[in-house]
Amino acid sequence: MITSVTIGTPLSPSATRVMLLGSGELGKEVIIALQRLGVEVIAVDRYKNAPGHQVAHRAHVIDMTNHDALMALVNLEKPHLIVPEIEALNTQTLAEIEQQGIATVIPTVKAVQLTMNREGIRKLAAEDLGLPTSPYAFARSGAELQAAIDNGIEYPCFIKPTMSSSGKGQSRITHQAEVLPAWEYAASAGRVDSGIVIVEGQIDFDYEITLLTVRAKNAQGEIETYYCEPIGHVQEKGDYIESWQPQAMNAVALAESKRIAKAVTDSLGGLGLFGVELFIKDEKVWFSEVSPRPHDTGMVTMASQRFSEFDLHARAILGLPVNVTLTKPAASAVIYGGVDSTNLAFEDIDKALSVAEADIRLFGKPESFKRRRMGVALATGINTDEARSRAKLAASLVKTSAA
Ligand SMILES: Nc1ncnc2c1ncn2[C@@H]1O[C@H](COP(=O)(O)OP(=O)(O)OP(=O)(O)O)[C@@H](O)[C@H]1O
Ligand SMILES: [Mg+2]
Repeated sequence: MITSVTIGTPLSPSATRVMLLGSGELGKEVIIALQRLGVEVIAVDRYKNAPGHQVAHRAHVIDMTNHDALMALVNLEKPHLIVPEIEALNTQTLAEIEQQGIATVIPTVKAVQLTMNREGIRKLAAEDLGLPTSPYAFARSGAELQAAIDNGIEYPCFIKPTMSSSGKGQSRITHQAEVLPAWEYAASAGRVDSGIVIVEGQIDFDYEITLLTVRAKNAQGEIETYYCEPIGHVQEKGDYIESWQPQAMNAVALAESKRIAKAVTDSLGGLGLFGVELFIKDEKVWFSEVSPRPHDTGMVTMASQRFSEFDLHARAILGLPVNVTLTKPAASAVIYGGVDSTNLAFEDIDKALSVAEADIRLFGKPESFKRRRMGVALATGINTDEARSRAKLAASLVKTSAA
């Protein structure tokens, strides 16, 4: 069946309304992409003046883990689509909202529920879908953690809270003396204290990628899966510092990556873009985790693709066709706050932008911390090596100070 997608006029009764739950730097770019298509956008976050708040039609501050607060806001704003940008949400409320036919949750309630908890997504991938992953176990105490390591996970291994992102509460350990401190760090830094950690055996990979995978409608109105070129990245303490696209890959490993991404995203369902994180060694591929939304390492697509991951997400969720063409090799490099401040100044922006083919995004976060991601440098080049050195140079030229 050929479908017809209609977009109304913002701020009128015909408006197509989309609510972002979480309005950080990734949400901000999704909002800008939606704004360009004439969508009315409502940005929600747990703190005032979040990046996405600054570019939306309306902004709200609520505790999105609170059922009553979330339900009341959705009933007030009556969005057609709800687009989660973060994991700390009351997913039970989202399920009720969808059951009552109030709004559609992107990509699906199931996807949001399974990916907010490492236990859910890991069991889906490894046990239900039979995909290759690192060896893993769950532990509810320091003693259970030690037993899991002794009974087969071994060292080195990674210990992570089941509910966390961006490396929070995560450690890599190599011997027994580190087990209890790792347990305590994970248990204290988990987002919602579920008291469960995952321990994963270390995969000795050659490199890791994010495979941006889009579920979007084709010209026949059927959902089809599209893959962006693989994105290579470097992580430090579980947080991304640099990414580039395309990552050169062995053809067998690329085909296997797509197979894994298809299996996971088919199972999660719905429309939208997913960031599938994979570890690669020669021809072998391991599934690591997936975001049912744009991925931080995918910010590089603002420079490399005809349509960025944010444009692709906006188009896919509205039922529009997508195009994942790469136009030029590019790279991104993170700009950190460097200082703790609520009055941060970015200096020497002119010098950063004098680097050939370089660009920057400053997120506008109201509060900076030394290791908080406050912006990103982007650059294109003849190849990813050139793009990477330009992006890193541009990022390094931006100086921050507490004005
Ligand atoms: N089992 C593993 N073997 C090897 N490296 C790993 C393993 N688990 C994690 N890592 C390394 O740590 C990084 C962060 O891990 P992971 O993606 O699970 O955490 P995260 O907190 O969700 O991070 P982010 O939010 O930045 O994706 C990985 O990208 C990888 O570099
Ligand atoms: Mg990750």
